[in-house]
Amino acid sequence: MARIPDGFIDDLLARTDIVEVIGARVPLKRQGKEYSARCPFHDERSPSFWVSPTKQFYHCFGCGAHGTAISFLMNYDRLEFLDAVDELAKRVGVEVPRDTRARNENSDTQDLIHALEAAQRFFLRQYSTSGKAQGYLDNRGVSIDIRDRFGIGYAPDGFNGLRDALGTDERRLKLLDRAGLLSKNDSGRVYDKFRDRVMFPIHDRRGRVIAFGGRVLDKDDGPKYLNSPETPLFHKGRELYGLWQVRQTHNKIPRLIVVEGYMDVIALFQHGVDTAVATLGTATTPDHAELLFRNAADVYFCFDGDRAGRGAAWKAVESVLPRMKDGRQAFFLFLPEGEDPDTLVRQEGADGFDRRLQEAMPLSQFLFDSLAADVNLHTLEGKGRLAERAKPLLTQIPDGAFADLMQQRLTELTGVGARAASPQTHVPAQRASAAQRPAATPKRSLVRSAIALLLQKPALAAALEPPYGFARLNQPGVDLLVEIVDVVQQRPEISTGALLEHFAEHAQIGALQKLASQSLPGNEEHLQREFLDAIEQLQKQTVVQRLDELQAQQRDGGLGDAEKRELLALLQMRAGLQRAQ
Ligand code: UTP
Ligand code: MN
Repeated sequence: MARIPDGFIDDLLARTDIVEVIGARVPLKRQGKEYSARCPFHDERSPSFWVSPTKQFYHCFGCGAHGTAISFLMNYDRLEFLDAVDELAKRVGVEVPRDTRARNENSDTQDLIHALEAAQRFFLRQYSTSGKAQGYLDNRGVSIDIRDRFGIGYAPDGFNGLRDALGTDERRLKLLDRAGLLSKNDSGRVYDKFRDRVMFPIHDRRGRVIAFGGRVLDKDDGPKYLNSPETPLFHKGRELYGLWQVRQTHNKIPRLIVVEGYMDVIALFQHGVDTAVATLGTATTPDHAELLFRNAADVYFCFDGDRAGRGAAWKAVESVLPRMKDGRQAFFLFLPEGEDPDTLVRQEGADGFDRRLQEAMPLSQFLFDSLAADVNLHTLEGKGRLAERAKPLLTQIPDGAFADLMQQRLTELTGVGARAASPQTHVPAQRASAAQRPAATPKRSLVRSAIALLLQKPALAAALEPPYGFARLNQPGVDLLVEIVDVVQQRPEISTGALLEHFAEHAQIGALQKLASQSLPGNEEHLQREFLDAIEQLQKQTVVQRLDELQAQQRDGGLGDAEKRELLALLQMRAGLQRAQ
């Protein structure tokens, strides 16, 4: 993907009025310095969605949605990153810089897309003249409307149908090969990969065909389903079959249902359950989980009730936990033996399937039930084992109410963890809107204060000069503080929103987000004084810490000349600090 310089993004965000961008899509109400609305990303009656023009970011106290104008467009208009950047650049009238390599890559991508488009047209043409393929879909009860909507086609029998029709010269043959449509035998002969199969095109997030799945017509003719191999366009761990159709059908997707097969998605859709998607012959990956939750807050995973199904469900748990921000919900539905969503929805209709979904098991229950399945919770040993198994999983849940509740549940089951965890991971969650609770600033350490102030006004970091004395301080959060200061020094224009984006993958992002969304009282000057005060205190603590270290070492008899000089200097410095107080 084209790499756009951070500086350009910072500048773009600085020129963009986030209030205007969001206000064009969601009715905003002015409340003091900020704007509020009913959150567009989850259902709610009273507004807990806030947009800050000074910090250039939005934040929902209800569901935790947050970000810059770019991430808003990605989530609300469902744009890809580059498209969102283009959109904003157009608004403010600047050109997006792209290096030439990226341009070449783009034209390469274009060629592949065109080859796949041509293949899709070919399969549709073949389908329209194949009584056999049409008969197969008739037999399986797939309606004509659904065949069109999903673009179902047919790859003809024989070895050269597609190759001869589309691979008319060397360049085109190469493209078909790179698009995953050809196979090669040992003697180097190239032939059609998909033969005598019903073809299901797989669309990307913009509705372009990027791969295919093909199903045999006759029972014992090779593997039942054949999927395109991984190509530059297609990574099966990142795509979901049917997502394009679901997005075409819904402005706001109420929930997503994850099933295993192409035919499950199609049958569900035809019978009125039009929010199902399928993983493509793989387990649920973390990329899938992110994609799912980016599109819907509630995700239902359907699996077979057998051992293999439970195993697959556990894989999904592992992929989903790190994405369980507040407001998101995952459920697990285990199907009766011998049934799949296709057969069930035909028997029971949409209502029957909905009833099953309503009774699906919440993630919390599935997780604790699975971990405790072979454990005797009446013994301390059993409780200990459950706690040991649960801990590494629970720590993956992002900071927030759900993480706290899961921790509480573990405590109920085992008694472990009844005392509060380290203060660093516990920011009191501000559930009510900022306007309702203006003074609820939690008590926090100096490091946290400094971080909070810096998040409010990144420009404060300009007053500091490396090397930072406090960087050596042994306290939780110091490393993060240094990282933030570094980022701001390199990107002086950076806004709060962009700063959060930079740390999006950081383990502490949940805490950072909460700190950033508080409204700190006082004007700019006041904030600056507070920040510099905090930094000065930290410097002093660092001096004391180093003194302690050196004096301890001296008692053990091991100070070198340099260290002796350092000790002396520090003692003088401390005396100076004390006089100044
Ligand atoms: P199933 O065998 O359960 O297929 O495989 P299904 O969806 O019920 O298909 P029908 O109803 O017989 O047509 C479920 C999914 O696993 C993948 C495919 O994605 C399929 O939809 N699969 C299965 C393969 O990739 N290859 C195979 O050989 C079989
Ligand atoms: Mn089936």
